[in-house]
Amino acid sequence: MTQDEMKKAASWAALKYVKKGSIVGVGSGSTVNHFIEALDSIKDKIKGVVASSEASSQKLKSLEIEVFDCNDVPKLGVYVDSADEINPTYDMIKGGGAALTREKIVAAISDKFICIIDSTKVVEVLGAFPLPVEVIPMARSYVARQLTKLGGDPVYREGIFTDDNNIIIDVHNMKITNAKMLEDKINTIPGVVTVGLFARRSADIVITGTPKGTELKSKDCLLS
Ligand code: 5RP
Repeated sequence: MTQDEMKKAASWAALKYVKKGSIVGVGSGSTVNHFIEALDSIKDKIKGVVASSEASSQKLKSLEIEVFDCNDVPKLGVYVDSADEINPTYDMIKGGGAALTREKIVAAISDKFICIIDSTKVVEVLGAFPLPVEVIPMARSYVARQLTKLGGDPVYREGIFTDDNNIIIDVHNMKITNAKMLEDKINTIPGVVTVGLFARRSADIVITGTPKGTELKSKDCLLS
């Protein structure tokens, strides 16, 4: 299987978590694009979605799937999204597509985070993928200096603006052994909107597309 076929397999396997008549949280990126196509096949059975990016929103609307404003939906059953890296306790790096803040918001109103990935995203220690940080433009240099103090090598993602008109700094060369602590530290730097570490709100269920088929793991298994 190619990487894209593994992404597709994981995405279609996520459909079984979508409840009839529900509003579904939908993430962003190339894996989620497969999930949106899967969702299209059952669109008559769901009420609609809350999307975590303008790109996903456009794609969903083009398929005539109703997109609700996040402010009008107090709670979601499931949020389906991918990740750039995921560790054995389901902490994630996200934001390769610059949608991290909206992704965190939709994840925050969802009971379950279903993470759909291909097997290349699974790592022992987070940090080989540069850690995205969404930053208010005027704080770019200040935040970069603080990220250097935390041991990383910040690189400004030139020419990229988020859906909320902020910038992205990618932090290279971080070996993230305590994801919750680093998430808290970076989130308290003035000018940071959010860091793409999802450790305070990690995944609940992980569906991995592998060369041999899909594997499903749940946080309940981790705790027992
Ligand atoms: C976007 C994200 C994506 O989930 C992440 O970048 C994975 O993307 P892809 O499915 O294209 O590999 O966090 O901000």
